[in-house]
Amino acid sequence: MNLLRLILKSSVGKKALVAAAGLLLCGFLIVHLGGNLILFSGENAFNGYAASLDKNPLIPLAEIILAVLFIGHIILALWTKAENAGARPEDYRFKRWKRDRWYGSKTAFYSGLLILVFLIIHLRDFRFGTAPQGLYRLVMESFKSAPYAGFYAAAMGALGLHLGHGFQAAFQSLGLRRPRVRPAVDAMGTAFAWLVAGGFAIIPVWAYFK
Ligand code: HEM
Repeated sequence: MNLLRLILKSSVGKKALVAAAGLLLCGFLIVHLGGNLILFSGENAFNGYAASLDKNPLIPLAEIILAVLFIGHIILALWTKAENAGARPEDYRFKRWKRDRWYGSKTAFYSGLLILVFLIIHLRDFRFGTAPQGLYRLVMESFKSAPYAGFYAAAMGALGLHLGHGFQAAFQSLGLRRPRVRPAVDAMGTAFAWLVAGGFAIIPVWAYFK
């Protein structure tokens, strides 16, 4: 507890926690995308996969960890943003650095906000909604609505932007974006962000036209 308090007192510590939570959430996204791609294998395969998740006794624990990661990531990111806004350095180089950083964190703020709105609607409909017809049909029928499928595709655009910035920021905060490896880290982050966002975005588009 004392260690956590110490970490939360420092801006570097909070940024490291935001980064660690963000990277763990990327792990969830890979698993979730893998599960969602089973939709392409048809109704039985996808409903069978959903039923196996329902039966897994570890899922409730994983859901609690996931909620803590999401909420912790958001609260700590907003907290560091508020602290940064309070700092008023005069030095020119510092100002330029702050302006560049501000641009990145501003887009991250708005893309993050859109992802949060998406997540609330997403969980209401797919996690807590009733699906007497089975989860496959619930998902496929939902995406027959053009505005709904379009909203999903747009939210995935925000996810790509957020992950692209977040990946670089996370490696920077953890001291892993040294000049020598920076181009490789940035390229990896961009590729990861758009592969994941693109992978998710294909689903509503495919389901709409199917
Ligand atoms: C086309 C894109 C997506 C589809 C079709 C999709 C589908 C689903 C479905 C069917 C569930 C319910 C699973 C169940 O109850 O067994 C679910 C849960 C969930 N989804 Fe998605 N999802 C998509 C994108 C996303 C994205 C981008 C995120 C995060 C930013 C996300 C976060 C979640 C979370 C947190 C849950 C709850 C997990 C749990 O409680 O076990 N989803 N999704």
